[in-house]
Amino acid sequence: MVKKKSQTTNPSRGGRFEHAVNKLTIRYTSSLEQDKRLYQEDIVASMKYALALKEAKVITNKDYSKILKGLKIILKEIESGKFEWKEELEDVHMNIEAALRRKAGNAAKKIHTGRSRNDQVSTDLRLFLMKSIDEISVLISKVQNSIIKKAQKHHKDIMPGFTHLQMAQPVTFGHHLMAWYEMLNRDYSRLQDTKRRTSSLPLGSAALAGNRYKLDRKLLAKRLNFKEISNNSIDAVSDRDFSIEFLSNISIIGVHLSRVNEEMIIWSSSQFDYIDLPEEFCTGSSIMPQKKNPDVAELMRGGSARTVANLVGLLTLMKGLPLAYNRDMQEDKRFLFDSLDYSISSLELLSMLIDGMNVNTKKMKSDCNLGHLTATELADYLVSKGMAFRRAHEVVGKIVAFSNKNKKQIFELSLSEFKKFSNLIEKDVMTFIKPEEAVRTKDSIGGTSPKQVLTQIKKAKKLLSLRS
Ligand code: ARG
Repeated sequence: MVKKKSQTTNPSRGGRFEHAVNKLTIRYTSSLEQDKRLYQEDIVASMKYALALKEAKVITNKDYSKILKGLKIILKEIESGKFEWKEELEDVHMNIEAALRRKAGNAAKKIHTGRSRNDQVSTDLRLFLMKSIDEISVLISKVQNSIIKKAQKHHKDIMPGFTHLQMAQPVTFGHHLMAWYEMLNRDYSRLQDTKRRTSSLPLGSAALAGNRYKLDRKLLAKRLNFKEISNNSIDAVSDRDFSIEFLSNISIIGVHLSRVNEEMIIWSSSQFDYIDLPEEFCTGSSIMPQKKNPDVAELMRGGSARTVANLVGLLTLMKGLPLAYNRDMQEDKRFLFDSLDYSISSLELLSMLIDGMNVNTKKMKSDCNLGHLTATELADYLVSKGMAFRRAHEVVGKIVAFSNKNKKQIFELSLSEFKKFSNLIEKDVMTFIKPEEAVRTKDSIGGTSPKQVLTQIKKAKKLLSLRS
């Protein structure tokens, strides 16, 4: 065992340890590579904490000014890349505190009065996630704007709608796009809910029991832009629900992005040929010269697996942990930052993919002539002539079977052929089962008619304009 060499540089080992820390322990316990990213939040929270200490008369005005000055210099050093990070100092918090000692001398030794890394890390993380939620929210709105623009352009263009990836009923392309918008709208609102619960200040809880220094926690919360303060110091340092919620929100976003991208991948295949993705987001093949592969879309679909894995990872990490803080919790950042980075880069790319996608409205329209796409409309026709729907369903089923046998689409049948199945069918059926007519008449609120799509778009535009 290595004898301590004037102890170690890590202040947390203080006077208690006789032996220097093992090198492998340093590497194993350090979270610096992950939590460096929290430096801004750590410094801002320390600045406001120092102010609270001063106001509670725990430190003098002079100490406060030295601390503030020192922290400002550290912030600049980090931002300019001059700061010397030390792995042996475990994490961002200790690195900044140790650096402060070099800048502010004895005053720096007082910054950690009544504070623990346990309430510090939770404060920093909450601040960081609130900022991240704002960033993601802006990007979600941007994607939604791209969607709205395309939907507006294609509010009348018809395409086959699918269930089970089989031809189902005609819809407008604008309507399908606005379904993507709705998914993202829920993502947006979930994030705002999570932000509200994240906005609770743990600082002042110290290690787990609270502090004796009569700090004005409410004022501290206000200054750090928290909506409220935590009610229970043990819970405050044990709680990572806000991180779990964040990861849950991102994994739902991931699932949504994977579905949207899956559609773009299918639609851009030669068989579908509904859209053409911009070349700048596609790659070629090393052997097949003709290929244009939708790699960005595929990686967005594939990368979403990590968002689910990260959520499950954090849930598993927290499950069964006794209160209060446990070092296990340090692992949360790997999950959080990975999902955060996925969502930021994916959303950024997605709005560009949507902006740049070319839509082959001709192919979409001509595909509406496949798969007896308006069979449901034919049943609706019979209903309009007085037949009960279940009966109409059966009759149309027989018409479809007949058409298949004769290698025809239902709209290619003659009136006399129709009449073999029901005398209620007249000449006007031909208009009734046209895809354009099918779409025009789906005019209930939220339906696929061009008019309804425009209404959806109008509502969406208004909502987006209200977002700050
Ligand atoms: N790096 C630690 C983390 O991220 C900070 C808290 C450490 N607290 C402690 N008591 N060892 O969780």
